[in-house]
Amino acid sequence: MANKQKTLLDIQRMKAEGEKISVLTAYDYTFARIMDAEGIDMILVGDSLGSVVSGYDTTLPVTMDEMVYHCRGVVRGTSRALVIADMPFLSYQVDLRDARLNAGRLVKEGGAAAVKLEGGENVAVTIAAIVAMDIPVVGHIGLTPQSIHRMGGYKVQGRQQQQATQLLADAKAVEAAGAFALVLEGIPADLAAEITAAVSIPTIGIGAGPECDGQVLVIHDILGLCDKYSPKFVKRYADVSGTISAGIASYIREVKESSFPGPEHSFR
Ligand code: KIV
Repeated sequence: MANKQKTLLDIQRMKAEGEKISVLTAYDYTFARIMDAEGIDMILVGDSLGSVVSGYDTTLPVTMDEMVYHCRGVVRGTSRALVIADMPFLSYQVDLRDARLNAGRLVKEGGAAAVKLEGGENVAVTIAAIVAMDIPVVGHIGLTPQSIHRMGGYKVQGRQQQQATQLLADAKAVEAAGAFALVLEGIPADLAAEITAAVSIPTIGIGAGPECDGQVLVIHDILGLCDKYSPKFVKRYADVSGTISAGIASYIREVKESSFPGPEHSFR
């Protein structure tokens, strides 16, 4: 495993060479350190932190200050993976000046190497404006959680022909605007395969089937840390919640029965 920090060139080369790209979310130093040591290619400081860290029902309340704070911890825990920071709702939709400033904050204050924002043709100008500042951008189309009120819930997108045609146009617009990668979320596997073949930038799927150039999942979901939602596309690789509960229950019991702290945990 190479030890140098990955760049967007490494990620693009992986697509060209047919090597699948692994991506996970992280929101703090500890998790970032573990996944970085295991060789994850990219870490996304996702605005999903609104749900799994802060307990909000949607990602909409997440602020720029929260993103910067979490991003800093992740970056300090990372030495090889490329760190992408999500641009939260209202940090890029209002005007280009806001979008540029906020993307710049995630790089300058958060330490991210790239930013991600949701949308297709409707945000192409914004992507181009951020890329023009030499900040690498990842696009995100399909089920875009910041659009929950328009979508009427977290629903698979692109099942109707008209939607599928729009998503293909969105992917091409994001590529033409200069994004170096594209997240495809919650779309049928066949459409994701078609988009992946139609663009030269790597596609990173979440609930978008096996033909994407890489995959991303939320760390809390794959470790069984958050059972609030369990979408079909999540595979649970561990039951960390169970391990944590058992450890906490043992601690409480030992404190109650005065068997902790023992002599080995006490000073003389
Ligand atoms: O916020 C997030 O974690 C994301 C991924 C689910 C792609 O955007």
